[in-house]
Amino acid sequence: MSYCVAIDGPAGAGKSTIARLVAKKMNLVYVDTGAMYRAMALFMLREKVSRDDPEGISRKCEEADITIGYENGEQVVYLNGENVNAFLRTEEVSGMASVSSAQKAVRVKLVSLQKQLAKTTDVIMDGRDIGTCVLPDADVKIYLTASSSVRAKRRYDELQAKGEKCSLAEIEQDIIDRDYRDMHREESPLRRAEDAILVDTSDMTIEEVAEKISGICEAKKRSF
Ligand code: DC
Repeated sequence: MSYCVAIDGPAGAGKSTIARLVAKKMNLVYVDTGAMYRAMALFMLREKVSRDDPEGISRKCEEADITIGYENGEQVVYLNGENVNAFLRTEEVSGMASVSSAQKAVRVKLVSLQKQLAKTTDVIMDGRDIGTCVLPDADVKIYLTASSSVRAKRRYDELQAKGEKCSLAEIEQDIIDRDYRDMHREESPLRRAEDAILVDTSDMTIEEVAEKISGICEAKKRSF
């Protein structure tokens, strides 16, 4: 039996940063499921499928073969054999991912791949439905969150550091809209699993959060 940690929560709560740190500490493989949904969104954009065409998205997703691998310890997503990591972190892809990930056909395909990965490997997997759908029997479930203003400020600082022009108010509105779509969609909406531990990172540093979650994971391992 593999050891599995599920981390869910809204965009910008710090899931991937924390999951990477905990993966190193606990010797787990980090699986970023958002990147898989982003690869699917990239495929839709390249194929010129409209955001307003749910049937088109469902049909087209059959043509996308998405797999993951690891290079130098980092997850790489392959879309029909091409490493697409460099194209996944744009606002355009984020927008499409939020729409295409609501389609059942897209979720069925990617959830099956995620379940398969966790069967044979000790993983820490982050996303929106890991504790509720993908790994309902995970050894540890964390629901990581932070206020929308704190999440917007973190994203704003990141973009500023890269020299990109942006508006804090627009970023926060975008986060609020994305939360709404993720939490109110029909298919696997974002919600805290009943047995997930809530960690609000609004007033915590990255180190404090990583320390707390590693502590929870270690305690669980010791209890075996
Ligand atoms: O975590 P992220 O921003 O990279 O996720 C991209 C999009 O994919 C986001 O709109 C939420 C969606 N997603 C999802 O529906 N289920 C997951 N397990 C992971 C991400």
